[in-house]
Amino acid sequence: MTKIAFVTKIDRRQFIGGSLLAAGGLVLMGPSSTKAAEGSIEILIDEPIGTILPEIYGHFVEHLGAVVYDGVWVGEASKIANIGGIRKSLIDALKKIKAPVIRYPGGCFADSYDWRNGIGDRAKRPHRTNFWAGAASEKVPPLSTSRFEPNTFGTNEFMRFCRLTGAKPYLAANLRGGTAKDFSDWVEYCNSPARSTTLAEQRAAGPTPSAEPFGVEYWGIGNESWGCGGNLTADEYSQEFRRFTAAVPGYKVPLKFVGAGASSDDLDWTRGFFAKTSEKGEGIFERIYGWGVHHYSWNVSAGRTSDWNAGKGDALNFNAEEYYELLREAQKVEKAVGDHWAVMGEFDKKHRVKILVDEWGAWHRPGTEVRPEHILGQQSTMRDALVASITLDIFNRNADKVVMGNVAQLVNCLHSLFLADGDRFLETPTYHVFDMFMPHMGAQSVRTEFSVADFSYHRNGTTANFAGLTGSASINNNMITLTVTNPHLTEPRESTIKLRGASVASAAARVLSNDEVHAHNTFDNPRAVEPRDKKVAVSGGAIVFTFAPASITQIQIRRG
Ligand code: AHR
Repeated sequence: MTKIAFVTKIDRRQFIGGSLLAAGGLVLMGPSSTKAAEGSIEILIDEPIGTILPEIYGHFVEHLGAVVYDGVWVGEASKIANIGGIRKSLIDALKKIKAPVIRYPGGCFADSYDWRNGIGDRAKRPHRTNFWAGAASEKVPPLSTSRFEPNTFGTNEFMRFCRLTGAKPYLAANLRGGTAKDFSDWVEYCNSPARSTTLAEQRAAGPTPSAEPFGVEYWGIGNESWGCGGNLTADEYSQEFRRFTAAVPGYKVPLKFVGAGASSDDLDWTRGFFAKTSEKGEGIFERIYGWGVHHYSWNVSAGRTSDWNAGKGDALNFNAEEYYELLREAQKVEKAVGDHWAVMGEFDKKHRVKILVDEWGAWHRPGTEVRPEHILGQQSTMRDALVASITLDIFNRNADKVVMGNVAQLVNCLHSLFLADGDRFLETPTYHVFDMFMPHMGAQSVRTEFSVADFSYHRNGTTANFAGLTGSASINNNMITLTVTNPHLTEPRESTIKLRGASVASAAARVLSNDEVHAHNTFDNPRAVEPRDKKVAVSGGAIVFTFAPASITQIQIRRG
């Protein structure tokens, strides 16, 4: 039963501009608007789903706006602390969250990139028009690196970044503008043994030399080949994919090729590719590691157009409906993963090809970027942190299907973990989600039942339901990690947490929440949003925990 209550209990500070309040003064609330709702979470420790590959917690760096310059690369001569030109604070923060993999150099940029432009003497590297130059507003200085790519940061610099952070590289090849030979040359440049080839010698020269091969395993074959990556049909892409990946030597590295998959729910692209590719016999799927689905949480509620960028809602100024709608967008990735998986299985019956969600995140309209040069840059609030926790929990729950996730993008862009501007640097609330979810990396995902009542909210003149609590659980030896998102803007949720077939010996919690769902970290107040430890009461082998409104909780449970 849904009750209607007046909003006087809602903290008005939560709504910048008061849009919800102005819109009628009503909210729909769940079964109880006066006391914390009751629910239960049961972790089925004997029902494994699959190992949560650490790569699910991966990242993405594109030559776009200020992601590379000055997010990652500040230059060796910079006064900003750096290691070989790479921002030290970023390296340290990525090491802390054990960044497993970084996708590079795009995105759409990848299909315009000639990797040869980014090697050798930096002073001699060509300056080229950046793919994203057309997206720069008139406020972007005419010769900005956001418009014109100086190629200062190239393959060797990226590999150094990976080595310094401990992340594996995941390179995206240029399928639209490059050739299959350019691609296999890049593999040779990266992976051929020291002194074995001219390209290996070139790798060992230059300002960031590496005689040792880079050993790159993950290779994306183009990016969004249905759009910016070539406007191909699925049939055409299948043909190009096969041509690019045929007989490429790996130099003892097991090459993992990733197909440029669909956007969100575009099952036709997936079906088209798998159907066409299967004409070569089902064995061809042995040679394909993954299918790179992209899923953005578009901020397009409240009747906005789905204009790819400017028509969206704001990152900081949103009302309750816009808050819930963005979280709903995040939830859609679960259906997308399931639907693509089913279509892939029609052709690849043994499911050799897995899913990489190699671009995901919230996408707001421009206006909150640190500087105009930060094309697609946006601020990141508690709402974005909830988008991240909902998404990562979905990946955990689908650990049998999803082998990698790459949040778009690492710094100064969409849904970033970091914002940087010269010597100013901060961690967004989303960074803390990655930190809190770390114990899931490499653990066994187990089925978890959430029995918590749905609640309702106003949606476009009507009402819509939302799950009371969502989350995932995993086991690593004797340690169980449960992560839970309470999406309700104003109501806490009290829940009993049990292990099926075992008892809880002890537990500890960390919570990311804030009285203001619009709260975010700024250069002046970089720690406005950060997790806090919370005591957990264990009684009779179970836990009773109250999940704060609009919060993300990590509970580490030791079983008895
Ligand atoms: O992440 C920004 C862009 O979004 C990427 O370059 C592209 O692949 C996607 O459309």
